Amino acid sequence: FLDKMAASVLLALLCLTAEVTLSAGSNKCVARNFGHDSVVCECNSTYCDSVGSATLPPLGQFSSYLSSKAGSRLEPGQGQVRVKSSGADLRLTINPYQKYQKVKGFGGAMTDATAINILSLSAGVQDQLLRQYFSSEGIGYTVVRVPMASCDFSTRLYTYADTPEDYNLDNFTLAPEDINMKIPLLQRAQALSPRPLSLLASAWSAPAWMKTNGALTGKGSLKGQPGGKEHKSWAQYYIRFLEEYAKYNLTFWALTTGNEPSAGEMTNYSFQALGFTPEEQRDWVALDLGPALKASSYPHTHVLILDDNRLLLPHWAKVVLNDVHAAQYIHGVAVHWYMDSVVPAEISLGTTHDLYPEYYLFGTEACAGWNPLDRGVKLGRWDRAEKYAHDIIEDVNYYVVGWTDWNMVLDQTGGPNWVKNFVDSPVIVDAKRDVFYKQPTFYSMAHFSKFLWEGSQRVGVSPSKETDLEYSAFIRTDGSVVLIILNRSSLVIEFEVWDPTVGYIPFSAPAHSLLTLAWNTH
Ligand SMILES: *[C@@H]1O[C@H](CO)[C@@H](O)[C@H](O)[C@H]1NC(C)=O
Ligand SMILES: *[C@@H]1O[C@H](CO)[C@@H](O)[C@H](O)[C@H]1NC(C)=O
Ligand SMILES: *[C@@H]1O[C@H](CO)[C@@H](O)[C@H](O)[C@H]1NC(C)=O
Ligand SMILES: *[C@@H]1O[C@H](CO)[C@@H](O)[C@H](O)[C@H]1NC(C)=O
Ligand SMILES: *[C@@H]1O[C@H](CO)[C@@H](O)[C@H](O)[C@H]1NC(C)=O
Repeated sequence: FLDKMAASVLLALLCLTAEVTLSAGSNKCVARNFGHDSVVCECNSTYCDSVGSATLPPLGQFSSYLSSKAGSRLEPGQGQVRVKSSGADLRLTINPYQKYQKVKGFGGAMTDATAINILSLSAGVQDQLLRQYFSSEGIGYTVVRVPMASCDFSTRLYTYADTPEDYNLDNFTLAPEDINMKIPLLQRAQALSPRPLSLLASAWSAPAWMKTNGALTGKGSLKGQPGGKEHKSWAQYYIRFLEEYAKYNLTFWALTTGNEPSAGEMTNYSFQALGFTPEEQRDWVALDLGPALKASSYPHTHVLILDDNRLLLPHWAKVVLNDVHAAQYIHGVAVHWYMDSVVPAEISLGTTHDLYPEYYLFGTEACAGWNPLDRGVKLGRWDRAEKYAHDIIEDVNYYVVGWTDWNMVLDQTGGPNWVKNFVDSPVIVDAKRDVFYKQPTFYSMAHFSKFLWEGSQRVGVSPSKETDLEYSAFIRTDGSVVLIILNRSSLVIEFEVWDPTVGYIPFSAPAHSLLTLAWNTH
């Protein structure tokens, strides 16, 4: 019996190798090992690995893209969809009639640090790097979060209105960081992108003179009460920001009510923060921000509340969204990924969606290397890629419509960051050598961002038996299906996918791998 089973497994493997052929024309990863569990891919002005535009084969065939701890990086393959089941123990059945949320998009943040690092490279390498994120040969980022003024990933502390008592914001002015660095890079990114970028603005701190503690850092909130002059000026600050960026042809899809309001509310925070309770945020939106936006030249800008960890849900959403005066101005709830492992997605994201299905959930910040026990840049760490993929799959399976990485580009120390809060990033520059390294997390993002265009709709997937594989499936606007599968560890050795509209796809995800399968349905 055992021999027979071994033989059939061997046969199945042989069939697979024969069937999945590598497609030509893609640039392979120039791998470099820095002594961690996997590798980075090195890029310069003339060379960078890429899978091109990833168009799908005709009906009856499927595309596969595989990344793994063993060193595959979006390795492309193609195979035949079969009319008969392979008899695999585990079958993932696509249910196209079970429809869930539609995707908005994926991306990262244009922090001061990101801009400084991109501009530390020669012009040719800068272009190569921007193409990697934004062009159709790259990984298709469409969402860019733009910090309003300084945050920890800046080299100095500033806001756009640092003149004391400037309630009318007469002296509001963008910073050199915006004018000389972030704005030109955003314009270049937009020029490379086949789709309009969805820009998202978040502020870390209000000017010191508007705040109870008179400083950008530490524990402090706006002086006075919602409806009062500080709260009104702070709402106008957002409008002035939108106006100034519009002068450079950059318009915003959305803004958040402020980065991590719990930080400045509850702790003596070491970097820029502005405290809000959910009650104060509710009233500020209802009395100040909402009406100001409605009366501005940008009344269709989306407003996302929270912009903080999901452990605050569903409480935060209940306080704000149960109030019709605030809720009328709000479109979504923004979540950060820190401490996700201690808060089940079902009771935070799932419950919030069930209570307020008309408000979307959106991931606005995540990064590796933030945990004090495992801090900073680690070149080539595959487990960080798995953490990204795990979190994205969990989020989208609980109604999140987009996921935004934090700094798009950092240096080898994980900065610059004025308070030394160094973290990791999917792209790390080595300015001395004029190259950049694409980390395993870059490919984690790619497995989603390159394939799940705006409007892709999540559909049902049912496993024939219990499995440790993590997965999520989508139907894109052209009817093609995208299935993303993460294998962090499992006892299963092979599986097949059944899409009743096209047939059976046998496959085997290697140990510690991330897989995107895609096929046409007509
Ligand atoms: C860029 O990298 C490729 C591949 O490693 C190498 O062949 C080429 O010489 C490099 N070009 C420059 C300008 O360093
Ligand atoms: C603020 O702007 C006014 C003119 O609008 C100017 O006279 C003044 O010097 C500015 N103050 C500062 C501190 O920049
Ligand atoms: C502004 O952007 C639009 C499309 O994104 C483009 O058609 C137009 O030429 C741009 N205008 C300027 C002044 O750059
Ligand atoms: C807050 O932290 C700063 C240093 O980050 C320290 O100088 C200050 O004394 C602290 N304030 C309080 C009230 O603990
Ligand atoms: C997933 O990885 C494990 C090792 O971590 C491996 O034993 C298993 O075969 C893989 N699962 C699938 C479905 O390929």
